[in-house]
Amino acid sequence: LDNGLARTPQMGFNDWNAYGCNVSESLIESTAQAMHTDGMQAAGYTYVNIDDCWMTHSRDSAGRLVPDPAKFPDGIAGTAAYVHSLGLKLGIYEDAGTATCAGYPGSLGHETTDAQTFASWGVDYLKYDNCNNNGVPAQSRYTAMRDALAATGRPILFSLCNWGQENVWTWGAGVGNSWRTTGDINASFSSMLSIFHSNAGLAAYAGPGHWNDPDMLEVGNGSLTQTEARSEFSLWSEMAAPLIAGTNIASASSATLSTLTNTRVIAVDQDPLGKQGVLVSSAGGLDVLAKPLSNGDVAVALFNETGSTATISTTAGAVGKTGASSYTLTDLWSGAVSSTSGTISASVPSHGTVMYRLSGGSSTGSDPSGPIRAVGAGR
Ligand code: GLA
Repeated sequence: LDNGLARTPQMGFNDWNAYGCNVSESLIESTAQAMHTDGMQAAGYTYVNIDDCWMTHSRDSAGRLVPDPAKFPDGIAGTAAYVHSLGLKLGIYEDAGTATCAGYPGSLGHETTDAQTFASWGVDYLKYDNCNNNGVPAQSRYTAMRDALAATGRPILFSLCNWGQENVWTWGAGVGNSWRTTGDINASFSSMLSIFHSNAGLAAYAGPGHWNDPDMLEVGNGSLTQTEARSEFSLWSEMAAPLIAGTNIASASSATLSTLTNTRVIAVDQDPLGKQGVLVSSAGGLDVLAKPLSNGDVAVALFNETGSTATISTTAGAVGKTGASSYTLTDLWSGAVSSTSGTISASVPSHGTVMYRLSGGSSTGSDPSGPIRAVGAGR
């Protein structure tokens, strides 16, 4: 969406993956405070986002949404003021249907009132869900809220959450700043893997202001090991995905925080060229992805989906580089720097990802050859 926002993929936090319906002002404010002091804000995480269950079950006499006074004693406006005082921004959740997924009042038919209410509270970001939509086509429902947000005059990032339905990637760029490409993620390797494959083939649709969204991060959650969590963070960055942390930030382990704040990997996600990386090869569960970067470097990810350690190899030519007798490879997780005449190869642990920045030579002027189109996105 050409509203000046999300020129690089949005970064922030959302409570849903770790807390479900248990959102509150104290959770949002303590998370914002933690992000302010633990390096998350410094690493680029800006939006602190409230998900479902923040409101009461009915509108007020003027038809406006009402924050649950027990959960949000200072309202959304008070919460926004606190978050803003730290230099962060506040996001909220609503639904393009008659009710949210958890059964609270939806915005269908109330778009103007609700957009004005959000703007008056100081909201900076709207995640807009798709439950209880009465079968009305998504494009018209999401476009109505786009126009209502624009009419407020307040910059509000618009995150479409319609789970890849109606091939949202084919029309999303004109309606929102990002769109979910699949159903909900959960904190398991199999969920992360299937979403990765659905999202990886959609690179052609992404760019500054309009991104494919493979759902929020599970780094730090559930059964994901540190190796798997780093794979998620690597692959999401390689795919120029929104980086929305979904774990308990205030009590996150140092390993989780160091994954979430790896500035070398974040720089790949946030590269201003705004190209989503593509799969250049994928055989036997061994994947090579390449993402062209604004300074001519290429970010290369070697992802091992299999159950045992494997060597994954590619070449500078295959990822879009040519013309040098020697290239520099920077390992974005270890920081180690090496040189190569063209072969890029690593031993990658089961479920792990080795990620490099490849420098030198010139780019071949086109996207890396032969992107493989994944099939079957959607819920
Ligand atoms: C849907 C969305 C989730 C979350 C829940 C809240 O399932 O896809 O991300 O917002 O609703 O109820």
